[in-house]
Amino acid sequence: MTEDAPAPSEAPLARQLLPDSAAISPDGHLSLAGLDVVELAERFGTPVFIYDEDHLRRRCAEAVAAFPDGVAYATKAFLCKAMAAIALEAGMDLDVSTAGECAVALAAGAPVDRLILHGNNKSSDELAIAGTEVPGRYKRIVVDSFDEIARLAALAPHPLGPRPVLVRVTPGVQAHTHEYVMTGHEDTKFGFSVASGAADAAVEALGELGSVALVGVHAHIGSQIFRLDGYERAMAVLARFVAQHRLTELCVGGGLGVGYLNGEQTPRLEEWAAHLRAAAAASGLPEGVRMTAEPGRAIVASAAITAYRVGTIKALPGIRNYVAVDGGMSDNPRPVLYGSGYEAFLARAVDAGRPFRARVVGKHCESGDVLVADARLPDSVRVGDILATPVTGAYGHSMASNYNRLGRPPVVFVRGGSARVVVRRETPEDLLALEA
Ligand code: LLP
Repeated sequence: MTEDAPAPSEAPLARQLLPDSAAISPDGHLSLAGLDVVELAERFGTPVFIYDEDHLRRRCAEAVAAFPDGVAYATKAFLCKAMAAIALEAGMDLDVSTAGECAVALAAGAPVDRLILHGNNKSSDELAIAGTEVPGRYKRIVVDSFDEIARLAALAPHPLGPRPVLVRVTPGVQAHTHEYVMTGHEDTKFGFSVASGAADAAVEALGELGSVALVGVHAHIGSQIFRLDGYERAMAVLARFVAQHRLTELCVGGGLGVGYLNGEQTPRLEEWAAHLRAAAAASGLPEGVRMTAEPGRAIVASAAITAYRVGTIKALPGIRNYVAVDGGMSDNPRPVLYGSGYEAFLARAVDAGRPFRARVVGKHCESGDVLVADARLPDSVRVGDILATPVTGAYGHSMASNYNRLGRPPVVFVRGGSARVVVRRETPEDLLALEA
């Protein structure tokens, strides 16, 4: 995703890219939570997202410990009722940015006062949680534009009192990541610019609304960030802003990077939090200001693998080898969208060296349907094998599409030797059910 990506490696897959419960059986097969992945693929079909449930629970607990003032799970990374329930049970709030995410969170049993509403173009219905019988107020609404302030002004007062809001600002920082997932710089659709004075004007406008209570500031500088200096630079701007407006809460957003490739390390949530706290102290953030965060990828990415079945292998002499699997850009659009790199391995031979160069592609009707542009696989790869990609727990299932009318894959959670389907496979009947 960045120009710093390591060169493709022929070494066996690095173990730290696999979920916590990963183990290798004496026959070389990968197991997760004690279950053989080849057997899971037989049982649930392919492609299939397999999540290590304890891994998810542990990351949520780590986030809660790292941010005692409050931490929300960014549901856009991966959302279903089972995931929302895990985050809530661990003590995380939920960041939702559409009525759809809100509906899933509520269906999972989330009280509305554990939801943080995001979005650069929220509708009045989303702001008011229209159409539901929920009694509470959002824990926070993260205000993103002057039009939204007008929409808030037009809402009927909430019976419980003013709605707590944060003002989303852009601190003018270029994070070191892909352009499409940078959000803290000046040329962005998100938030109010601090440098231009728009953020000050937003604070003033919100102060005049009796129907909201401004408690703090929010900034999210981007996603898949490894170099933490971007947060330091943002913190300097934010600390000044918080002090100037006597705010009591600072939410630093999400964005912590995750390793996808052999040789890439995943920073721990505690390290990120410690770094942020040090930056806050160095920037003179006033004592007593609550510091909150909303990680998504760091919670879920490496909890899952996607298992596919190899359907064809084509050797083009002097050009390259193509290994085609039964999913593709519909279950993982990240390689096509961002040029993101993934590793590939065989579930029956996790420890094997990978001298065979191939492009791993899907079954969609276009050449851009690439999962791993320059993959390394064991020489023994053959049709019928279960080929898997690790670190597909974030922005995979949540960004999946029905291109070529392929059903979205199921999501299976494994824990303590048992597996459960938390989202079933989408069928042609499901898709036809939408049609008149
Ligand atoms: N908070 C806000 C306001 C966000 O917009 C996001 C992500 C997060 C938190 C969580 O960020 P994380 O910790 O997951 O980096 N589809 C892209 C990533 C888009 C991120 C969008 N916003 C990808 O697949 O890389």
